[in-house]
Amino acid sequence: MAVIPAAYQAAADLLKGRHLLVTGAGDGLGRAAALALARHGATVILLGRTISKLEAVYDEIGAAGGGAAIYPMNLAGATWADYFELASTIEREFGGLDGILHGAAHFKAFTPLYDLEPKEWVESLQVNLTAPFSLTRHCLPLLIKSPDASVVFVSDRPGREPRPFAGAYGIAKAGIEQMAQMWAAELQSHPQLRINTFHPGPLRSGVRLKGYPGELIEQSPLPETATPALLWLFGPDSRGVSGERF
Ligand SMILES: NC(=O)c1ccc[n+]([C@@H]2O[C@H](COP(=O)([O-])OP(=O)(O)OC[C@H]3O[C@@H](n4cnc5c(N)ncnc54)[C@H](OP(=O)(O)O)[C@@H]3O)[C@@H](O)[C@H]2O)c1
Repeated sequence: MAVIPAAYQAAADLLKGRHLLVTGAGDGLGRAAALALARHGATVILLGRTISKLEAVYDEIGAAGGGAAIYPMNLAGATWADYFELASTIEREFGGLDGILHGAAHFKAFTPLYDLEPKEWVESLQVNLTAPFSLTRHCLPLLIKSPDASVVFVSDRPGREPRPFAGAYGIAKAGIEQMAQMWAAELQSHPQLRINTFHPGPLRSGVRLKGYPGELIEQSPLPETATPALLWLFGPDSRGVSGERF
């Protein structure tokens, strides 16, 4: 079992020449990760729903001398054809893809299963499980061509142990854990592509704010605290590590 080095210090040019896709890049962990990945040399494709948030991240990356592109997409309504178009656009515009961070999340509140509205069930599974699957599936031909590719599915505690009231979000995260291991096992003949899950712990961002509205959010670490681990997972130092949970 691999361990992410404590206080991992990423080289300044760790990700130079890589093209990485980040979902949920407008906010929280996705935003922090996009900024960090770009700071370490990657060109980051920022995928999200709210264009103004993506533009702000794009500007911040550009001001720091990094490279980025914006791909607005509502994962709740996305179809198989939309994912095909996304992968085709990435291939046309960038010539390839070296990794995906599945950071987008749909979560409204802790809810008993009995009380889940059908719309909430469908949307949560769509954004938190179907979208990461479909995106990975359509980008796979590009990832397989990369000399060193990494896919990271962002998980959460209910993905690793059943938690009452975690609702469709928790069920989707459990599915993510299974799916990542299945992808990793099925793709063993492509050792240059690694697929792992990452649970960041509580963060001072959207999902925590919605789940624990009475909590002092300052008690949770900033999303930036999770970025050294993500840099390790996307950089060459984690080569050969696949099918693991971090
Ligand atoms: N925060 C925590 O304490 C915590 C703990 C454990 C795991 N996590 C995981 O870490 C990841 C990031 O969490 P976070 O709290 O940082 O999230 P966040 O701040 O709520 O940001 C989530 C992002 O996902 C995007 N998104 C939501 N629905 C979307 C849709 N239909 N289509 C496209 N994009 C959509 C949001 O876009 P908009 O801004 O446009 O809505 C936003 O940019 C998630 O996978 C979450 O499960 C978080």
